[in-house]
Amino acid sequence: MRTLIIVKPWAVSRGLVGEILGRFERRGIRIEGLKVVRVDRETAERLYSVHKGKNFYDSLINHIMSSPIVACVLNIPIEDPENAIALVRKIIGVTDPTKAEMGTIRGDYGLRIDRNVIHASDSPRSAEYEIPIFFKEDELVEY
Ligand code: CMP
Repeated sequence: MRTLIIVKPWAVSRGLVGEILGRFERRGIRIEGLKVVRVDRETAERLYSVHKGKNFYDSLINHIMSSPIVACVLNIPIEDPENAIALVRKIIGVTDPTKAEMGTIRGDYGLRIDRNVIHASDSPRSAEYEIPIFFKEDELVEY
């Protein structure tokens, strides 16, 4: 099952891309698509359309456009898509880094909820919506 993760500006500028992607690889999860992207406003608004109207929406949009991100499609080798998403959520930790467990990506590297180090699709449906925002089908390699 494919899902999208984004290594966000704070993590890219701190040189944490390899460390973060390595956690998924070491868990046995394959990278099937990978690119460095400077996100424009249209892309940011598509990605975060579910948050439109929330009080943190503007800062969320401005942050993801502030410096390059790394977009990555992972293939989770678990049949039940809900379980596959749950595993990714477990590896990254809960949204608020001050509450995320140590040993998770957000628990180890995050500081502020409005400057999260990683984004991940939170359901099979959002993975289906989010992947094509960054990747054409022929940019993904199944193996
Ligand atoms: P991300 O996983 O990229 O996608 C949703 C983002 O909303 C999340 O990262 C957080 O950075 C941000 N977010 C969620 N809740 C809050 C909040 N209460 N205050 C500020 N930002 C938030």
